[in-house]
Amino acid sequence: MVLVSSNANNLLSKLAKGNGHGEDSPYFDGWKAYDTDPFHPIMNPRGVIQMGLAENQLSFEFVEDWIKNNPQASICSVEGLDEFKDIAIFQDYHGLPEFRNAVANFMGKVRGDRVKFDPDRVVMSGGATGAHETVAFCLADPGEAFLVPVPYYPGFDRDLRWRTGVKIVPVVCNSSNNFKLTREALETAYEKAQESNIKIKGLLITNPSNPLGIVYDRQTLETAVAFINQKKIHLVCDEIYAATVFTEPGFISISEVIENDTKCDKNLIHVVYSLSKDMGFPGFRVGIIYSYNDAVVNCARKMSSFGLVSSQTQHLIASMLSDDEFVESFLVGSAKKLAARHRNFTRGLAQVGIGYLRGSGGLFLWMDLRHLLTEKTLEAEMALWRVIINDVKLNVSPGSSFHCSEPGWFRVCFANMDDNTMEISITRIRNFVLQNKEVTTKIKKQKFCWRQSSLELRLSSRRLEDIMSPHSPLPQSPMLRATT
Ligand SMILES: Cc1ncc(COP(=O)(O)O)c(C=O)c1O
Repeated sequence: MVLVSSNANNLLSKLAKGNGHGEDSPYFDGWKAYDTDPFHPIMNPRGVIQMGLAENQLSFEFVEDWIKNNPQASICSVEGLDEFKDIAIFQDYHGLPEFRNAVANFMGKVRGDRVKFDPDRVVMSGGATGAHETVAFCLADPGEAFLVPVPYYPGFDRDLRWRTGVKIVPVVCNSSNNFKLTREALETAYEKAQESNIKIKGLLITNPSNPLGIVYDRQTLETAVAFINQKKIHLVCDEIYAATVFTEPGFISISEVIENDTKCDKNLIHVVYSLSKDMGFPGFRVGIIYSYNDAVVNCARKMSSFGLVSSQTQHLIASMLSDDEFVESFLVGSAKKLAARHRNFTRGLAQVGIGYLRGSGGLFLWMDLRHLLTEKTLEAEMALWRVIINDVKLNVSPGSSFHCSEPGWFRVCFANMDDNTMEISITRIRNFVLQNKEVTTKIKKQKFCWRQSSLELRLSSRRLEDIMSPHSPLPQSPMLRATT
């Protein structure tokens, strides 16, 4: 039977018909732009470079070496075949004990062995994506809400809200204090929610922060712990970027902060983790819920049936992460590579006067392009973003897609490409800024002259062509086109 699409839609659930996934955002649009014209050094050297993907591709050599030296770790190798049958038929939602032990061990190592994790509290999920949804299902009913400091990872709109019916209430942070999370900001957001009759069930923080690339200091974490204890709400800490910290200040886990805090009700504390960033394995879908609350552990474990990690992956990860020597050298090697890439990229940006929020972790920078905006509006930010995608051919993500209310900030990822591609992206940014400077200086002069003669002129593309030198390296500046 053939149905016209509107009728076909009427037969679907509200969820299927709705737009809750949140794919209509520049964050995802940028990925689509990349997908239709992806950069390749030989096949498509003028294509879009993907700088919107927080992937850690710098340390694969360590993992590949380990795999070569440990062929038995895979059940699909001659050396591992003996275990194939047992692993292939395994289907327990508790997970392989050796997997939970290895993950708990790894989580401790990532935190410098300053805190221990209990394997019995490790619950698996389909990436941190699945972990967030499961935690939301466990902690809140439809219509109830989580406080989330902005700017935040756009995927939270999907993970926390879409299928659960839970809401997000933003906690406004801004550049005046380097986006610091303060008690005042928390109280303001909480009160606003109360005024709107929205019940707050928890606070979700991401440490290190995506998109800011900063780590929370101990005092901020203590503030968050004190706040949620006073309000009797939950604290969910997404620590998915824990091992991407490559310089000082170092990473402090919420687990360290609450360890000796006798006033904290530990039943309120939950950690979301995954191997997608720290190990660079987003494809493996290894997500972890680590809750200090027994009821949450039990419920989440049952729910994990909807997003189990395959036993084949569990088996491989168990072998790899219980190799302490490998883990230690991987963590040191990965941090060194991230530090070198960060240094190289920020040096390139500094040469053309582009600043960023100083951070010590993450796979991205929170880049400050406020000076390139034609006006301080989110529309101007989007116009600049379109230029960067369409003309400069870089997929960076505008701050508004992270719900940042202050225009001009962009997240740019730096660890998902090789050195050569990185150099090309720096060159493109450099050319863009230099050409833009030349043209905007001329415009400013011209605008000044126009004002002087009291002429009410609007910049049209015709006029812009007029004021540009025939020798300008960019005949029609993309920035100018953005204003039209
Ligand atoms: C802060 C944060 N949490 C969760 C996720 C989702 O991670 P996963 O691939 O493990 O689902 C991401 C991915 O970018 C993220 O940045």
